[in-house]
Amino acid sequence: MAKEKSIYTCSDCGGVSPKWLGKCPSCGAWNTLVEGIAEVPGASVKNSRYQALAKSQPVATLSEIEAADFERTPTGQEELDRVLGGGIVAGGVVLIGGDPGIGKSTLLLQAIEDLSHKLPVLYVTGEESGAQIAMRSRRLGLAGSKVRVLAEISLEKILATLEAEQPAFCVIDSIQTLYSEHLSSAPGSVAQVRECAAQLTRTAKASGCAIVLVGHVTKEGAIAGPRVLEHIVDTVLYFEGDTHSSFRLVRAIKNRFGAVNEIGVFAMTEKGLKGVANPSAIFLSTHGEPVPGSCVLVTLEGTRPLLVELQALVDSGGPSPRRLSVGLDKDRLAMLLAVLHRHAGVATNDQDVFINAVGGVRISEPAADLAVLLAIQSSLRGRPLPKGFIAFGEIGLAGEVRPAPRGQERLKEAAKLGFSVAVVPKANAPKKAIEGLTVHAVERIEEAMDLARGL
Ligand code: TYD
Ligand code: MG
Repeated sequence: MAKEKSIYTCSDCGGVSPKWLGKCPSCGAWNTLVEGIAEVPGASVKNSRYQALAKSQPVATLSEIEAADFERTPTGQEELDRVLGGGIVAGGVVLIGGDPGIGKSTLLLQAIEDLSHKLPVLYVTGEESGAQIAMRSRRLGLAGSKVRVLAEISLEKILATLEAEQPAFCVIDSIQTLYSEHLSSAPGSVAQVRECAAQLTRTAKASGCAIVLVGHVTKEGAIAGPRVLEHIVDTVLYFEGDTHSSFRLVRAIKNRFGAVNEIGVFAMTEKGLKGVANPSAIFLSTHGEPVPGSCVLVTLEGTRPLLVELQALVDSGGPSPRRLSVGLDKDRLAMLLAVLHRHAGVATNDQDVFINAVGGVRISEPAADLAVLLAIQSSLRGRPLPKGFIAFGEIGLAGEVRPAPRGQERLKEAAKLGFSVAVVPKANAPKKAIEGLTVHAVERIEEAMDLARGL
């Protein structure tokens, strides 16, 4: 096939240039030109790669379109099915990201083995050799007899194999190792990742094969390469967790076939990842006695409440004190510290403040605010919160404590696990007393801080 011509498109304004330039000739932005394939008008439609998009569909009235529910095939990994919304969907494309060594290949190998008993499957590996996959499969104790493996990084060859093998489920491990012969940039570059993902997505939609793309993440934790990848695919899953501990979370960030923010919890064992069906208490560290700077939060991830220990360390800082957070938003921490100072009179402006969510969980819900500030105050005073203490609630800039969704469920879960004292927003106070749990309802941050000092 004749080599197609490249053009360079500005990711800001869409302006094009025939060669790469540091500065966009149209809008003047720096470093925004990205390589792509020049499409010859007319020819592109005939080009088989675009046929999936070119098929014309009649216009129909919405009410006449049959809304058949997607047929899902369970992967056999219950926790994975939970985040996928029940299983894989024909033609669906899933992107799964996570730090190196967190268990992406392990989980997918376990899932593909299960699926191979029901469907024709293909495992494409660009990172490891077939022998390495076989070794992992033996280690996991899987027979692997029906899993077809292809060690290949050329997109064109992979597409040809998909055409020949006609699998119903295919894993691409990983998208950053693939390259298309039509582009001159290196594998893993923005242009290559985008082109390969787009072509595989087209193939999935046209053939009905469900495809899982493994994606590397950057230091900041986002999928490496273009953000646009997340727009192309149907479902985006992220692996979270501390590679030093054995627990792993898989979270749905986007899901066209199910609920978002649902999580699956796994434990990494000698024989691969095992689902944890009842995970509520795994993110608590094990202190014999309460320690200063620690507060347990009841967070709600997807459909299940989780108890997570938040730790704060407040220590006298230098001329420009540092605010660092692991697992929580740093900007939100700065905002909370300002509210704490202004409304509750607790000053930390000459202190370093560090906060950490135990176990490598990432907490994005604002209901963590109250627990963060209680942990900070506890560390500042050097006094622990009482034994069996939990808190949750969002804090506003005016110092008000706002309710968290589904407060009753959170309180019940905490009581079930033996927690005995709770500080919660007024609107979350239970109407009927919960056995074994003393609930203090607060409306303002200063009220919560005063109350915690007296406990
Ligand atoms: P892997 O799935 O290769 O990670 P990724 O594809 O996300 O880079 O996981 C590798 C890690 O998991 C490695 O440190 C070894 C560990 N592991 C186990 O603890 N038990 C197992 O059964 C397997 C297969 C791996
Ligand atoms: Mg891997």
